[in-house]
Amino acid sequence: MKDDLAIKFFDAYKKQPAATFFTPGRVNLIGEHIDYNGGLVFPCAITLGTWLCMSPNDDNVIRFKSVNFEQEAEIPLQTSYVKDGKGWYNYPLGVFNEILKDFKIPSGFDLLYYGNIPIGSGLSSSASIEIVTAYALTEFLGLNYDLLSLVKMAKRVENDFIGLNSGIMDQFAVAFGEKDKAIVLNCDTLDYQLVDCELGDHVLMIINSNKPRGLAESKYNERVEECAAALKFLNQELSLNNLCELTADQFASYSHLITDATVLKRATHVVEENDRVSLAAKALGEGNLAEFGGLMYASHQSLKELYEVSGKELDTVVEFCASYPEVAGARMTGAGFGGCAIAILKKGAEDDFSKKITAYYEEKIGYAPGVYVSEIGNGASAI
Ligand code: GLA
Repeated sequence: MKDDLAIKFFDAYKKQPAATFFTPGRVNLIGEHIDYNGGLVFPCAITLGTWLCMSPNDDNVIRFKSVNFEQEAEIPLQTSYVKDGKGWYNYPLGVFNEILKDFKIPSGFDLLYYGNIPIGSGLSSSASIEIVTAYALTEFLGLNYDLLSLVKMAKRVENDFIGLNSGIMDQFAVAFGEKDKAIVLNCDTLDYQLVDCELGDHVLMIINSNKPRGLAESKYNERVEECAAALKFLNQELSLNNLCELTADQFASYSHLITDATVLKRATHVVEENDRVSLAAKALGEGNLAEFGGLMYASHQSLKELYEVSGKELDTVVEFCASYPEVAGARMTGAGFGGCAIAILKKGAEDDFSKKITAYYEEKIGYAPGVYVSEIGNGASAI
């Protein structure tokens, strides 16, 4: 990959790259729409990701090019930036803007990105491009940011520059992930634990619904607001900083305070899903895939019925999985509104599963899904 990209970099800029970096995407095993509610999430980094080849230039400009997109940008080196339309390069531009708050960037840069994460599929292509840029500039310029600062910086890019009020899970997972490990992350304290992702005689499958995620940003922000509204209702009697301070049992004693039916559904999902994460991490640690799988299905059901972020496409994927004997569990992963689902599948059944889910999905939805075996990989690195 590094050599191929170096050739492409040479084609684009007529010089060799000075350095190359990689940051993965992620799947979330369980704990969806929990991070911005201060609870537990359970993601892992995958081997798909974003590569960045770079070289400084003497022209005082930042050139953004991508193997994936035709759109390019050449932006003068300034002391700050604002979002520039809807171009892909806003993600790395937002990172430059953040770094410029702390440091003077001494030269322009020629940048070439390549990603193999399906874009907008819920596998964190945006966190991946943010972190690879932040990590690369930090390493290349010798800036004194630690990895957690880069994670927080990338979240600020997403929230303040891009305008998506997301939590910290994606940036954290793609930066801190490790091969064959899943991360139990407390999104309130940012304490985390890397645990073996022991699937035994099963593999992790990713099924891309290939449904474009229209309206995702506004619907996502709407969910964030609904959770804030739930907190406000509850804080008529409590003094919570976030919804995940309550277990589902505790929540039952106070849920009457939430008088808006939609907001009540959202909050019910959040507290129950948060409880499911601890149970799921325990089940996985014990190698109890039946229990783990059951929690995945329960999570999906809740995202469909209570949080209303699934959709016909993802439901069709999970419905097929539930009918396929070699699947231990399946659910949508990431923000939803389209994007990907994951399934825990018995090894050896990959081809049959892939064929049958493709036929089933095509018949119901009218086009094919993407079906991949996913490996759990490392976080951000120089390569
Ligand atoms: C997106 C956001 C994350 C998280 C998930 C849902 O991936 O970027 O912060 O909220 O959705 O769990």
